[in-house]
Amino acid sequence: MSNKGLDIGTNMLVAASVGKDGAPVFKMQRDAFYKIVPKSEVNKNSIKMSLEKRGANFLVDGDNFIVVGEDALEIAIERNDVAKRPLKKGIISPREKDSLPMLKLIIKTLLGDSDDASDKVVYSVPARPVDGDFDIIYHTEIMGRYLKELGYDSFPLNEGFAIALSELLDEGLTGVCLSYGAGMTNIVVVHEGDPLVEFSVTRSGDYIDQSVGTALDISPSLVQLEKEAGVDILEPTTKIMEAVSVYYAAVINYTLSNIVYELNNRKKELPIFKTEVPMIVSGGLSLAKGFTDKIKESLGHMDFPIPIKEIRRAKDPLTSVANGCMLAAQL
Ligand SMILES: Nc1ncnc2c1ncn2[C@@H]1O[C@H](COP(=O)(O)OP(=O)(O)OP(=O)(O)O)[C@@H](O)[C@H]1O
Ligand SMILES: [Mg+2]
Repeated sequence: MSNKGLDIGTNMLVAASVGKDGAPVFKMQRDAFYKIVPKSEVNKNSIKMSLEKRGANFLVDGDNFIVVGEDALEIAIERNDVAKRPLKKGIISPREKDSLPMLKLIIKTLLGDSDDASDKVVYSVPARPVDGDFDIIYHTEIMGRYLKELGYDSFPLNEGFAIALSELLDEGLTGVCLSYGAGMTNIVVVHEGDPLVEFSVTRSGDYIDQSVGTALDISPSLVQLEKEAGVDILEPTTKIMEAVSVYYAAVINYTLSNIVYELNNRKKELPIFKTEVPMIVSGGLSLAKGFTDKIKESLGHMDFPIPIKEIRRAKDPLTSVANGCMLAAQL
């Protein structure tokens, strides 16, 4: 029997399992694909050979090849092109189900098949957005069915609550968790193990990449890579980083003001917190230097309805969701 966690993200898929020494083991794969159209039969064979040589995961689609994962991004950049993504804003929608086989292949390379019916996978799902009109039902159901096909007993878990399981066990599972990913920012308010309020806001890393790309007339993929190479949002050093820092601030202000508005509207669903509680920030975007300071500064101008003791980053912002999912699978 095995218990695994799977973070199904717009930019990255992360699987967590228990290693031999009991410590978690993480595997990550870029949630991307890239289609290569051969020019001739000879070209087709040479492409196949080179993909096999580089150990890339790919699907054969008629005459074409569809590469998935980190290789898709690398090959797209080598060819001066952009890779595509199976998910948009954290979900696969019925309209984009053509990219489902690609997503399935990435999940399969991370988890493998199971031949033990008691093998369990808990997978993350975003919460319903407050500023978008799509739902997460189709996505949740389709992912569950696929994990079943792979032989797993599975159940979905809210992404924010997974972070709470990973980061707030020592504090009695009470606090606020924010997940700043690629497509979405998720928030959950947890009180003594109970996720009381959860929702998402549809702005995060992709918004920064697209806005900076438009402002400076450069490719959003380039902005993404530059941003991932490391950014100090309080002291940017280059022109690109300056623009990144401007849109980081825009995302932080937009998400926090939506969160404050929504929480104030839903005050009846919130308990009365007698003492101050921790706020956890996680997700890839939170890796930027100065991120928690910027959150603090922005919150200082707002009327946040829950008393906050401290704002701290998750121990590992890229794996906390998968870790929380794995812990949930063990419960
Ligand atoms: N070191 C870093 N510094 C700054 N930003 C980063 C860093 N690493 C990743 N990012 C950015 O974080 C975002 C991705 O975060 P994450 O991997 O948590 O998202 P996801 O879980 O795939 O997406 P979502 O939860 O929205 O579906 C992207 O915008 C990425 O460029
Ligand atoms: Mg995520």
